[in-house]
Amino acid sequence: MKIGIEAIAFHGPEHYIELADLAKARSVDPDKYAKGLGQIRMAVATPMEDTVTLAVNAALKALKNFDIDYNDIGTLVVGTESGVDHSKPVAVYVHKALGLRSNCHTYETKHACFGAMAAVFSANDWISCGRARGSKALIIASDIARYPIGDPGEPTQGAGAVAMVISDTPSLLHFDYEISGYYTKHVMDFWRPLYSKTAFVDGHYSIECYLNALEGALADALDKATIPELYKMDQLQACIYHVPFVRMAAKAHHRHFEIDAGERIDRESERFADVRKSFAEKTGPWLSLNAIVGNIYTGSLFLSLIDLLRSNTSANLKQISMFSYGSGCAASMNIAYPTLGFERFKDKINPEPDLTARRKLSIDEYDNIMKISDSLGTGNIEEFSASDWGLTSDFLYLGNRDHIRRYSGL
Ligand code: CAA
Repeated sequence: MKIGIEAIAFHGPEHYIELADLAKARSVDPDKYAKGLGQIRMAVATPMEDTVTLAVNAALKALKNFDIDYNDIGTLVVGTESGVDHSKPVAVYVHKALGLRSNCHTYETKHACFGAMAAVFSANDWISCGRARGSKALIIASDIARYPIGDPGEPTQGAGAVAMVISDTPSLLHFDYEISGYYTKHVMDFWRPLYSKTAFVDGHYSIECYLNALEGALADALDKATIPELYKMDQLQACIYHVPFVRMAAKAHHRHFEIDAGERIDRESERFADVRKSFAEKTGPWLSLNAIVGNIYTGSLFLSLIDLLRSNTSANLKQISMFSYGSGCAASMNIAYPTLGFERFKDKINPEPDLTARRKLSIDEYDNIMKISDSLGTGNIEEFSASDWGLTSDFLYLGNRDHIRRYSGL
C-alpha cells in the first residue's frame, strides 16, 4: 500500500514586511538578512490571525482544491508550537469550523517544528494497520514564529499553515516509511516556557543541534535501509529540509553532502564548489517561498515541498529526501516518491497569487502589531474589526469573552 500526500495547501497572513526595511530600522546591514540568512520578506500575523485561523484557512484550500469529501476525514491533527490554549487543542476549533464528522479522531501534537511530521508518521500507522477503514487524515502544520523585538531571531519570524490530506491514494507523493530515520536528544537550543509569548533561543547552538540531528537521523535511516543506495545523493533529484531561514537549509545540505561523500569539506576548500553545485541543483530552487514567508516552524519543510512540487514534473522528479527538525530536539530523515502525473495539480498548490496579494507593512505598523499582540492580557479582549487591519479572510479571531476565544462563523 502506498501512503502519502493526496492534497496540500498553504495559507499565510495577509501582511508582510520587507526585511531590508527591518534591517534599516534596526541599524543592521541589509545583506546580513538577505545574504547571511537568505530571507527577503517576512509574513506578519495581525491579532485577528492566529494558529486556528491559519489552520482553518489552509484546510479549506486543501479540501476544496483537491475535491476531498469532508466525510472522508477520519483523523484530524494539528501540529503546532504556538497553540492558543494549554488544554483545548487547536484541532477541535478546526474540527468545528470545517464541520467534520463527530467520530473523527482529533488532537494536537507538539515537538517544536517536528510536531506536524510526527503527525504524518501517526497517520501512516493509522492507515497502514487498517484502522482508517478507507478514511483519510487531515494533518495541519500551523504556527506563528515569535522572538522579542531586536533579538537576533527577529528576522527569522514568520507565520502560516500547511494543510495536507494523508491517504492511501496519494496523488502528489508517497513516503517510504519503513526506512525512516529518527533522532532524539534533550538539548536546550530553543524553547518557550508556558509563561512566555516569545521563544528563548541559543541561536548558534541551535544550528549545531540541528546539524547533529541531521547526522543522527540520516545514520539511523542508512542503518535501516536494506538498500542504503536509496539515500545516496545521486539517486535524489531533490533534498529538502526544515527551513527556519534559507541559509540553514544550505548548511544542512552541506552537512548532508559531506556524509554522502564520506569526508568533511571546508568552505574554503576547492571541493566546496561541488557542495554549492549540488545545493543549487537539489535544494536552493525550492526555497523561494520560505524566503518570502519566513519561518513557519512545523510547516516550513512542507512549504519547501510545495515549492518543489509546483516547479517540477514527474519526468524529472522521481525520488527525494525530506529532513524534519524540531528543537529540543527530535528529527527524521525520509525518502519520498512523487506520484506519476503530480504536475497536473501545479496550479492548485501554487500559493504565489495569494502571496502577491499581501499588503506591505511599514516597520512602524509592524512594531505596533507586535506591541498589541504582546499586550493581549488574560481577561476579556474587545472585539477586533477586520476593517481595522485591512483583512479580507472570512474566518478570523474576534477576541475573548468570559475566557472563551471567539471566531467569525463559530
Ligand atoms: N553580509 C553578508 N552576510 C553577513 C553579513 C553581511 N553584512 N553580516 C553577517 N552575515 C552572515 C554571517 O557571517 C552569518 O553567516 P554564516 O552562518 O555563514 O556564518 C549569517 O550572516 C548570520 O550572522 P550571525 O551568525 O552573526 O547572526 P546572528 O548571531 O545575529 O543570528 C541566528 C543568527 C543565530 C540564526 C539567529 O537569527 C537566531 O537565533 N535565529 C533563531 C534560531 C534558529 O532559527 N535556529 C536554527 C536552528 S533551530 C531550528 O531550526 C528550529 C527552529 O525553527 C527555530
